[in-house]
Amino acid sequence: MNSESPRAEPAARPAPESAAAGLSGLPAAQPEQAVSVTGLTKTYKAAGKAPAKLALSDVDLDIPRGSLFGLLGPNGAGKSTLINILAGLVNKSSGSAAVWGYDIDRDTRQARAAIGVVPQELNIDPFFTPLELLELQAGLYGVPPAERRSREILAAMGLADKEKAYARTLSGGMRRRLMVAKAMVHQPPVLVLDEPTAGVDIELRQQLWANVRELNRAGTTVLLTTHYLEEAEELCDRIAIINHGKVIACDRTESLLARLDNKALTLIFDRDLPGIPETLTAFNPEQTGPRRLLFHYHASDSPVPQILDAVCGAGLSVIDMSTEETDLEDIFLQLTRGAHDREDSDSQGGHEASA
Ligand SMILES: Nc1ncnc2c1ncn2[C@@H]1O[C@H](COP(=O)(O)OP(=O)(O)OP(=O)(O)O)[C@@H](O)[C@H]1O
Ligand SMILES: [Mg+2]
Repeated sequence: MNSESPRAEPAARPAPESAAAGLSGLPAAQPEQAVSVTGLTKTYKAAGKAPAKLALSDVDLDIPRGSLFGLLGPNGAGKSTLINILAGLVNKSSGSAAVWGYDIDRDTRQARAAIGVVPQELNIDPFFTPLELLELQAGLYGVPPAERRSREILAAMGLADKEKAYARTLSGGMRRRLMVAKAMVHQPPVLVLDEPTAGVDIELRQQLWANVRELNRAGTTVLLTTHYLEEAEELCDRIAIINHGKVIACDRTESLLARLDNKALTLIFDRDLPGIPETLTAFNPEQTGPRRLLFHYHASDSPVPQILDAVCGAGLSVIDMSTEETDLEDIFLQLTRGAHDREDSDSQGGHEASA
C-alpha cells in the first residue's frame, strides 16, 4: 500500500518473465556506466504532522561498469532513498536514472532485472532454509530451474554448510550473507548493498568484504552504502559522499583520500613545557596543555619521524602519544566548508556543518 516504503517488497520484484527476458535483451551488453543518475530529486510528501522532506536534491551520479562504488553519508543523507529509487522501491519526484543502460521509467522491467538489492533492514522468512529461500527468489524472478545456481551462490557466500538450516538459526552475519545470496539469484550485473556491515562484527565484516570483493572480481558492479569511511576506503575504488540529499564529492578513492589526508598527532611530555621548543616550530604545533603538543599534518608527507627526531634534539622525553585520522565527520566539515564562502563557514562555528 505504501509505495514510499522501502519495505514494499513486491514492487522490487519484476514480473516473473523479466529477469531472463531483460538480461537477454540488453541494449548495450556492456554499458560504460552500470548506473547513471541525472538531476535525481526526491521529496517525500508530508504525512500527518511530518512535513514534506527533500531527501535527494538534483543528484548526478555515474557508477562505471565493474566498479566497487561506495556511497558514503551520515544518517538521513539520502543513501537508501537513492538506491531504493534505482531498485524501484521508491518513486522519484524528478530527474532520470538508468541501470545497465535501462531507463527506470521506460525500460522498468529490464532495469529491475539488472539490479539485485540487499536492503538495509534484514527481512528473512525464518521458516525457510537458505536453499529454499534462494529457490523461491529464483522462482519470483522467473529463472528457469535449469539455470538456477542456488548451491553455487550459497557456496560463494560461505553458506554451503547451511543450505538446509532454518534461517532463524543463522547468526546475524550469516543472515546478511544470505541476503546477498538472495540478491544474486537472478545474476544481476549490478549488486546494491545498503549498509552491508551495520551490526556485523569485525571478523564477519572481513568475510563479507571478501565475498563482495570476489563478486566484484567476477564482474559484478557493486554499489554499497555505508557510514564508515574505513569500509569505503578498504573496499571501494570510487566513493561518492552524500549529505543532505546532495552529492558533495565523488572521486576515485585515492584521489578523495589524498584531498582529505589530514591527521593529528598529540605528544605528551614528562614535564611542563615553558613554550614551544625552537626545534619544533617548523612543524607548527599547538600547545594544548602544559605537557601537551598537538601537530596537524598531511599523512602523505609522513613527518612523524622528523617530529620525533626534533623532539629528541630538544632534549625532551615523550611519555605518551596518539594519532587521529581524519574521520567522516572531519571530511564532511571540510567539504561542506569548502562549499560555502568563508564568511558563511566562519559564522557557522566549529562542528555544525553536518548537523
Ligand atoms: N518513507 C519516507 N517518508 C518520509 N520521509 C522519509 C522516508 N524515507 C526516508 N525519509 C527521509 O528522507 C531522508 C533521507 O533518508 P534515507 O533513508 O534515504 O537516508 P540514509 O542516508 O539511508 O540514512 P541512514 O544512514 O540512516 O540509513 C531522511 O530525512 C528521512 O527521514
Ligand atoms: Mg539508509
